[in-house]
Amino acid sequence: HSIAKITVLPGDYIGPEIMSAGLSVLKAVSEGEFDYQIDEQPFGGAGIDQKGDPLPQQTLESAKASDAVLLAAIGGPKWDNAPKRPERGLLAIRQDLNLFANIRPTAISQAMQKYSPIKQVAPVDFVIVRELTSGIYFGKPREIDDHHAIDTMCYTDEEIRRVAKVAFEMAEKRRQHVTLVDKANVLATSNLWRRIVEDVSADYPTITYDTKYVDATAMKIISAPEQFDVILTENMFGDILSDESAEITGSLGTIPSMSRGTTGPALYEPIHGSAPDIAGQGIANPLSMINSVALMMRHSFNRPDLADDIADSVDAVIESGIVTPDLGGGSTTDQVTSAIINKIRERRNAYVENDV
Ligand code: NAD
Ligand code: IPM
Ligand code: MN
Repeated sequence: HSIAKITVLPGDYIGPEIMSAGLSVLKAVSEGEFDYQIDEQPFGGAGIDQKGDPLPQQTLESAKASDAVLLAAIGGPKWDNAPKRPERGLLAIRQDLNLFANIRPTAISQAMQKYSPIKQVAPVDFVIVRELTSGIYFGKPREIDDHHAIDTMCYTDEEIRRVAKVAFEMAEKRRQHVTLVDKANVLATSNLWRRIVEDVSADYPTITYDTKYVDATAMKIISAPEQFDVILTENMFGDILSDESAEITGSLGTIPSMSRGTTGPALYEPIHGSAPDIAGQGIANPLSMINSVALMMRHSFNRPDLADDIADSVDAVIESGIVTPDLGGGSTTDQVTSAIINKIRERRNAYVENDV
């Protein structure tokens, strides 16, 4: 068998801090279990600084030739006035790898319950399936002059259909419920989404399918998050609702994501940004990156056992109160990461003892 090839994009500000944490956990969990090689490449602001482009050609080629891409976070004030901002590199890699489906989980685990800012009566466990390569982020015309500016929200039936299928297939493995979130009381694109998704839903008779307006959804995510299973939505609504959803678990700094197309490598990244306000202090929460590594092991490398090793160790460390300041704790990025690695090793030793 061949060695797994992983393209690593640390990016900017806290990006390299949490990537380093994620890679240490990957190394620990892989020991004697999983062979991989890493190709680290400049991306975002680091791409601009090193190669004059947020998505350098060589970075894109590495990603295309990989089995999976791990990204930390890009962007920040240093490049806010650059002719081509770091964020353009992020949009470009998503489009060039055809990563049209972005999966962002929201689950309030037992261990996280005390950190959640909302009171929960029932378990909260839903995923947002966000369309990632079209909509207002990419539509033309897109222009600005001193007196007017235009963005265009545009969707085709095929763009809607392919991401809708991802959502229904996920729901089949979960609680059989898809909610399409839109603004169909105002937007033409939302009305096309309704037609196409209604049509797709007919192929999944076991799935309960409903729709909700995005403004009401923003409210329900706070007041009744237990009612959601799979939320399917367009690009910008998914961006906004996923930060809100992350925060009800306790911190934006814990939530990973997977972006995928139909073929080719998937990309794994925290949903948050480069957090310039806390960069360089060693206090960034590494859990979003570590959880992204677990998602990668589960979905790109078919190693649910190693993903569980990471997830269970993360839970144990949260439970023991070793958490960063965003969760109200006093631990550093390195302390949280070391504690997780220790737990992984303890689990390994326990297995070995049981085998004897
Ligand atoms: P942000 O997500 O970077 O930060 C929002 C808030 O959450 C900040 O207070 C930050 O300190 C906190 N936070 C985020 N991640 C954290 C972590 N791991 N641990 C502890 N606290 C954490 O959003 P922003 O400040 O609006 O954006 C900063 C830059 O990041 C911008 O340039 C933006 O475009 C970019 N961005 C990049 C990505 C990405 O790379 N995928 C995603 C979102 C934003
Ligand atoms: C995200 C980010 C990006 C997005 C930005 C940085 C372009 O907010 O990954 O959620 O809006 O998709
Ligand atoms: Mn976002």
